[in-house]
Amino acid sequence: MSAKPLRLSEISTSDAPRIVTGNTEFDRVLGGGVVPGSLVLLGGEPGIGKSTLLLQIAQELQKKERRVLYVSGEESAAQIKMRADRLGPPAAGEIYVLPESSLEAILGAVGQLHPTDLVVDSVQTTFSEALDSTPGSISQVRHVAGQLLNLAKTENLPVFLIGHVTKDGSIAGPKALEHIVDTVLYFEGERHHNHRIVRAVKNRFGAANEVGIFEMTAHGLIPVDNPSDLFLREREESAPGSAVVCAMEGTRPILAEIQALVLPVQYGTARRTATGCDYNRISVLVAMLQKRMDIPVMGCDIYVSAAGGLQIGEPAADLALLAAILSSFRNRALPPNTVLIGELGLSGEVRPVSQVQVRVREATAMGFSRCVLPAGNLPLHDGPGSAELIPLRNVQDLSDVIF
Ligand code: TYD
Ligand code: MG
Repeated sequence: MSAKPLRLSEISTSDAPRIVTGNTEFDRVLGGGVVPGSLVLLGGEPGIGKSTLLLQIAQELQKKERRVLYVSGEESAAQIKMRADRLGPPAAGEIYVLPESSLEAILGAVGQLHPTDLVVDSVQTTFSEALDSTPGSISQVRHVAGQLLNLAKTENLPVFLIGHVTKDGSIAGPKALEHIVDTVLYFEGERHHNHRIVRAVKNRFGAANEVGIFEMTAHGLIPVDNPSDLFLREREESAPGSAVVCAMEGTRPILAEIQALVLPVQYGTARRTATGCDYNRISVLVAMLQKRMDIPVMGCDIYVSAAGGLQIGEPAADLALLAAILSSFRNRALPPNTVLIGELGLSGEVRPVSQVQVRVREATAMGFSRCVLPAGNLPLHDGPGSAELIPLRNVQDLSDVIF
C-alpha cells in the first residue's frame, strides 16, 4: 500500500479526544491528557518512581472504565500487587498484570486481551526473539520501541514505555529512543528530595519542557498543586545569601529560593560550586560583580544552590543569582517579600525577559509585595496588581534597590 499525497486543508483532525487520567500533573506534562495511539517513554534513574507513577496512572485509567495491561519484565505479579496495595484501596476495575519480557509474548497478550492502554516496564528488560543480541542492547531497545510504536499506531493504543537512565548515561538508554517515540518524559533531580519533577523533553502533542511536580509519599506520588509553596517552604526570610526568583518551567511560573555562601578563600585557589544552576553562569555573574559593581568577590569561595533540588537553567534567574551572592558577601539579608527577575548582559544591562506578567502574578499570589524586574519589561499590560514593581536598567543600581 502506498500513501497518496493529501491536500493539507482536507486532512481531517477529528481524532479521538485526549484521555484525561485525572492525575493533574501527569495530564499537564502530557499537554492535557493521553493522546490515543501515542508512544510515551518515561525515563529516570532506578528507584526514582517510574513504576509507581505508571501503576498509579493505570489505577486512574481503570476508574474510567478502561482496561489496562501492565507488563513487567522487572517484577513478579505479587510484587506489583503489593505496590498497588500501597497506593490505595483496590479498585474493582480492569488492570491486568503480565510478568513477561518477550516482545512476541507481549504482542500476543495484547492481541488476546485488547487492552485500551498498555504499560511496558521496562524497555531494557524486553527483548525480541527475532534478534540475537542481548536484552538491553541498543539493537534490542530500538527494535522493541519500534514494534511498540507500530502497535500504538495500528491499534490506536496508548503505550507507556519505561526506560532506565543511569547517572553515567547508559549506552542503550532512553536517549537512543528519543527520536522513535512521540513523547519523552524524564524524572529529574534527586531521589533524596521528597518531590519528583517529571519533564517533557519532547512532545509531538504538546509543549516541550512542561513539568509535572509530585511529592513521593507512603501512598505513591501525589500531584503538587502549588509548587512555589513547596520550593519556598523551608526558606528563612531574613537569612543573608537568600534570594527568590520566579522561573518559568514550561508554561508554569515557579517561585524558588536561590542560596549563596560567599567567604574569603580558605586555602589555595577560589572554590566555586553550583547546584541546581549553571556553573558557567555563576562564573560570569561573579566576574560581573567584580568588574561592573566593584565588589571584590573574585578572591572568594562561592557556593550557590537552588533550594529544594530544582534545576534553574533560565537566564531570567541571573538577577536573583547575583543578588544572592551579593547578599552573602555583604552579610545582609535582602528585603523580605522581594522577588528578582531579570537576565544580565555582559555590560551589566538588565535585559527584558519573557512572560513577566505571569511571573509577577505568581509572585503576588504567593504573597510577595515587591518585584525587581527589567525596566524594559514595563509597563505591564494588565497592570502590576498589588505588587510594587521596581524597574532596573543596570546591575550597578542593584545595591540601591535591595539594600
Ligand atoms: P519505583 O517506582 O519502584 O522506582 P523505579 O520504577 O523508577 O525504579 O519506586 C521506588 C521508590 O519509591 C522506592 O524506593 C520506594 C518508594 N515508594 C514510596 O516512597 N512510596 C510508595 O507508595 C511507593 C510505591 C514507592
Ligand atoms: Mg521500576
